[in-house]
Amino acid sequence: MQNPIVEVAGASWTGRSPQADWAEALEGGGVLYFPQMAFSLSPAEAALLRPEVRDPKSRNISQRAQPDAPVKGAVGTEAELATLSAMMLRYRTQANALIDQLFPNYTPHLRLEPTSFRPMQVESRTQSWRADDKRLHVDAFPSRPNRGERILRVFTNLNPAGVPRLWRVGEPFDVMAQRFLPQAKPYRAWQAAWLRRLRITKSLRSEYDHMMLQLHDLLKQNLDYQRTADQMEMPFAAGSTWVCFSDQTLHAVYSGQFMMEQTYFMAPQYQTHPERSPLGVLTRLTGRPLLGAPL
Ligand code: SIN
Ligand code: FE
Repeated sequence: MQNPIVEVAGASWTGRSPQADWAEALEGGGVLYFPQMAFSLSPAEAALLRPEVRDPKSRNISQRAQPDAPVKGAVGTEAELATLSAMMLRYRTQANALIDQLFPNYTPHLRLEPTSFRPMQVESRTQSWRADDKRLHVDAFPSRPNRGERILRVFTNLNPAGVPRLWRVGEPFDVMAQRFLPQAKPYRAWQAAWLRRLRITKSLRSEYDHMMLQLHDLLKQNLDYQRTADQMEMPFAAGSTWVCFSDQTLHAVYSGQFMMEQTYFMAPQYQTHPERSPLGVLTRLTGRPLLGAPL
């Protein structure tokens, strides 16, 4: 497997001039890795690096795109929650500046999605196989069809004790899709209509969304694939940042604790190579349009 990690030096979140190679790497399913680019915390913010900050009923702590949205999934005093919110918004501002600097062509087309803070220790989390991100997968949202929009994510390891966040990065998306598409259950328009009517999905699940969820599940269910697929271990150092299209890069997280993450969505036509997007690849492999009639 070709090394999917592209390292970029420098500790500053701003001041680089964009290089065509970076968008090429990202659109090829690679991960841009900034080993020295940390998110620095004030003492009050560092005091929030405790798993108890998360409400046990929530999976993550998150803040929606609206700047005045309350932090969701956290517990603490009013002052702690205010500090947490400010920390997440500051991370968002830095992530925005980074993406704007790396991929200026994407900027006008990006939609800001939630910022999240993940204070839980990955290796002690127990989850159903479907929710288990310790297994290689591509990101796809069961309740939120995205009709081929890209999921661009910025991650930063905040671990104060120097513990890396250990990922595995898998084979290229098209190689995986070629292998697993024949096993995918066929799309049924009436099922998608029911899921919508029952409000299980927020909008109509397209054939594209169905296939991405099928691939997500087929990969996670297949323990033989998990063990034997082409993959590499990648320890993202404490105080480092990385960026990928998480709907394309096969990834799994083994271990680690304390991370910030910022998500963006973008329609694939704004990529340099739209045909390399999951929508492009799946359309080519199936030989038919996967989005149906526009809504
Ligand atoms: C994911 O699979 O998207 C989560 C990655 C992580 O928690 O490091
Ligand atoms: Fe994921």
